[in-house]
Amino acid sequence: YDYDLLVVGSANADLVIGVERRPGPGETVLGSDLAVHPGGKGANQAVAAARLGARTALLARVGDDGHGRLLLDSQRAAGVDTVGVLTGGAPTGVALITVDPSGDNSIVVSPGANARLTPADVRAAKVLLASARVVSAQLEIPLETVAEVVRSLADGSRFVLNPSPPAALPAEVLAACDPLVVNEHEARVILGGSAGDAPEEWAAGLLALGPRSVVITLGAEGALVADGGSAARVSSVKVAAVDTTGAGDAFTAALAWRLGRGEDLWTAAAFAVRVGAAAVMKEGAQASFPTFEETQAL
Ligand code: RIB
Ligand code: NA
Repeated sequence: YDYDLLVVGSANADLVIGVERRPGPGETVLGSDLAVHPGGKGANQAVAAARLGARTALLARVGDDGHGRLLLDSQRAAGVDTVGVLTGGAPTGVALITVDPSGDNSIVVSPGANARLTPADVRAAKVLLASARVVSAQLEIPLETVAEVVRSLADGSRFVLNPSPPAALPAEVLAACDPLVVNEHEARVILGGSAGDAPEEWAAGLLALGPRSVVITLGAEGALVADGGSAARVSSVKVAAVDTTGAGDAFTAALAWRLGRGEDLWTAAAFAVRVGAAAVMKEGAQASFPTFEETQAL
């Protein structure tokens, strides 16, 4: 394999404002100076993996504009192969993000070019797909594009999906996930009314939908990992949260990379929670992602 990880997903310019509290309907609040960062769940995963040392490629679409160049620059600076980053069709995706004093964020995404990443783009990237040990995706690109990724997987390559933002998933996509990686919110949306209250119940409910394995991220509580045979929690490391943006992306990228290296789900998740913890300690998404050495220091 030429790549440890191929990420198929979104690239957004993150427009970030710090707020004391979020405005309600009809309300205006004043916030901090605007920060513009490279982001998007796909681009974030690719940078996170490359920074850890994974040989990484990104299949994505950006606009022919300044935001698109910002995204390409950050991918290249991290060492991601951008041969699969397509340009044009619509403006680069934008995420409007507010971050509150506890480090929690709220995000509205305008998909822009991400919505124009098509199944035909996936078919044209056959060589990339055949060259990757692990392929990961999220849901800021069309679901039909993710379904085409699943159909195009090379024999022996592993598929990891973070269904974010959450949507109802076709059986064909669910069956390919090894694992399906969700947070509490995503688990509840995918399970609908039948969710139950304990993460162990969510894991059982999600496994019943068909994925080969499930990882539920639990923020400061770590993660719950489950496959057909067993379910067990992985604990986190205590850190002071500054900005949680992108922490889930860093977690998923780290998990996918370590699974590709042959680690079991529990060992890989124990490493990934450290990567996620490091990512909440600094502002922004990509700028907060650790190197492998930094994760060992935690
Ligand atoms: O997961 C964090 C990301 O979500 C941000 O970078 C933003 O672009 C949105 O896609
Ligand atoms: Na961060």
